[in-house]
Amino acid sequence: MKKKGATRRAILGGIGAGIASSALLKSQQDPFRDHSRVPGIDELKTVIEFEAVAYAKLPREAYTYTAYGSEGEFTLRRNREAFDWVELVPREIAGASPANTTAEILGTPMKFPILVSPSAGHSALHPDGELATHQGASAASATPMIVSANASFPVDKIAAAAPSPVWWQLYPQQDLDRTKDLLDRALAAGAKAIVMTVDQQASYYERAIHDRHLNAAPLGGAGRGRGRAPASTNPYRIQTTRLWYNWRYVDQVRKMLTVPIAVKGVLTAEDAKEFVEHGCDSIYVSNHGGRSLDYDPSTLEVLTEIVDAVPARVPVIFDSGIRCGSDILKALALGAKAVCIGRGVRWGLAAYGAPGVQRVLEILQAELVMAMNQTGRPDLASIDRSLVRTHFL
Ligand SMILES: Cc1cc2nc3c(=O)[nH]c(=O)nc-3n(C[C@H](O)[C@H](O)[C@H](O)COP(=O)(O)O)c2cc1C
Repeated sequence: MKKKGATRRAILGGIGAGIASSALLKSQQDPFRDHSRVPGIDELKTVIEFEAVAYAKLPREAYTYTAYGSEGEFTLRRNREAFDWVELVPREIAGASPANTTAEILGTPMKFPILVSPSAGHSALHPDGELATHQGASAASATPMIVSANASFPVDKIAAAAPSPVWWQLYPQQDLDRTKDLLDRALAAGAKAIVMTVDQQASYYERAIHDRHLNAAPLGGAGRGRGRAPASTNPYRIQTTRLWYNWRYVDQVRKMLTVPIAVKGVLTAEDAKEFVEHGCDSIYVSNHGGRSLDYDPSTLEVLTEIVDAVPARVPVIFDSGIRCGSDILKALALGAKAVCIGRGVRWGLAAYGAPGVQRVLEILQAELVMAMNQTGRPDLASIDRSLVRTHFL
């Protein structure tokens, strides 16, 4: 009997070793998922295809963390729908040569008006986390990366991982010394600009609750609070931390900086004007990719109102919902000077690491050039409102 058991174990061990070294497992984490074959990177031609590969490769919780929007996800859906309500009006005779897409925002020169949005915890998507994101972005025509306050690696390590410019995102901290310490670290790491996010400190995600991840700390955030026991008085993680925000803090942060500051999460003309009056150099129109207040408007719908409210010297940056080059062209036509990409980059990273990030950005760059050519706009200066007809509700 004993001898028979040992043989059985040996056989099972042999099978295990065979599976571990099989090509199947190398290309796909879980061979028993619905997706029976994960395509190679060269097979993917559009950004949304990277989502399916990310889904196939990630643990469900990491996929969901990237996918969801706040509460019932009205704004998450509306961000996408809004692009359908904008038509492109082509000009057939433009008489121009290859599209010139170069731009300069807040002193940072760019080959394309595209940056990586700040987003938390990239090591939940790929072991090399933000280091790989920066490498991939850098390889895609030196795309600048905005490093999240909740990155999985220290900002100096991320900045040193690749040569493309890095900006750093701040979540307001009530403690001024802590604020200064964080800003000093980012500046010492070479951050060329600071992005202060003001729109998201009190969201919760029904999709995560339905997944029974009650009170789970957000993925990433340098492991912040992971595995913390649920607070029985606040099982839905509804936070109240932003209630202290005030203009004095904005002034104090401005004074701490020697580099330009953009304020991220602005959705009204009134806020935009006031942030400029308080010394902000750029307005970043965003609703956090539908992860802030549900029933916020889509960012595309409020873009022109904000562009019109601020002086021409103040560049307006835009994100939330961009998935292809014509989306970028629409945002530029409505007045954005540059756009940022959140989920698309995360899908690229999860799907193929640094090369995935590079490919996602290169697809968007190529599609932008194609859309400019098709609409007869040779450079960014020639992209204006006459390029679009809007049918917002
Ligand atoms: C998973 C995830 C994490 C994010 N983390 C941050 C963050 O740490 N700081 C921040 O300012 N914005 C964060 N954002 C918002 C993004 O910067 C950006 O506004 C949003 O992703 C843009 O929408 P898109 O995903 O449709 O491109 C996050 C977004 C996602 C999807």
